[in-house]
Amino acid sequence: MLTTPNSLKEEHMEIMGSLRSSANFSDGTGRAVKELLKVLEPHFEKEEKVAMPVLGSLSELVSGEHVSNLREIADSQGALLQEYENMFQEHQILKQFIERAKAESKREGHEDVSDLLDALGHHARVEEEVLYPAALLAGTLAKCLLPNQTLQSVT
Ligand SMILES: [Fe+2]
Ligand SMILES: [Fe+2]
Repeated sequence: MLTTPNSLKEEHMEIMGSLRSSANFSDGTGRAVKELLKVLEPHFEKEEKVAMPVLGSLSELVSGEHVSNLREIADSQGALLQEYENMFQEHQILKQFIERAKAESKREGHEDVSDLLDALGHHARVEEEVLYPAALLAGTLAKCLLPNQTLQSVT
């Protein structure tokens, strides 16, 4: 079974928890964070479904030892490939909502919310630069390591 690393689960839970609290403000910041959450919640769900579980196999894949679920890792890549570009596009949309909420939070003196939104922006950049490609690479490596596979047949 593919298992999402706890560090990634915890990061999503932490961000979501803090944003939900910020959405309770009865001002422009609260409203802007609510709007952001409408886009962010389905995005996080998608990541947790198609990108994160395979990342739990990275340590095993680089260990050089026998990997028990190569087939499962390889097969998970299809769903990720299908959503890969969409997830980058969703980040572009999210950035606009983050900027809007940030402007409100600064105007209304919610420095903590502004910092939280910066952390969310950084989270998205780490995903784009490291985690999404790593998830894709895990599937490609698993395909290469499957018995009787040639490079031609995995693409
Ligand atoms: Fe995420
Ligand atoms: Fe993301």
